[in-house]
Amino acid sequence: MFLILIVLLSLPVMDVVADSSIPTAKRQGELLHLLRHDCGSCHGMTLQGGLGPALTQEALAGKPMEYLYLTVRDGHPDTPMPPWRGLLDDTEIRWLVTQLMQGVQNP
Ligand code: HEC
Repeated sequence: MFLILIVLLSLPVMDVVADSSIPTAKRQGELLHLLRHDCGSCHGMTLQGGLGPALTQEALAGKPMEYLYLTVRDGHPDTPMPPWRGLLDDTEIRWLVTQLMQGVQNP
């Protein structure tokens, strides 16, 4: 009985560790920090826009995930939007874009 309980309790934890499609909780914190401070230096600390356009949920509504993902990964040539592929991996970029599309609360 005790053993079954231990197995059941450890299942959700193993799921989180095994799922590589989302960054770890620690990394998520770092990514949100980057969003505010690095992306925010051009897009505004509250992502309402600055040198770069607003990255709020409203501003991104209707823009395809793939477009936003490629924008962050490769940047926009001949504009200040830099490529982030050297600093962020695919999983991290997709997670960040998903946060933006869902609207980041107090980034
Ligand atoms: C050096 C300034 C700068 C930094 C830093 C920067 N951006 Fe940008 N970004 C821009 C500019 C300028 C544009 C508009 C490019 C254009 O005119 O095509 C842009 C465009 C975008 C777009 C497309 C928006 C749209 O509505 O089409 C996204 C998404 C985006 N940036 C996300 C990010 C993210 C996420 C980060 C941080 C990882 C980031 N940017 C960091 C300047 C920056």
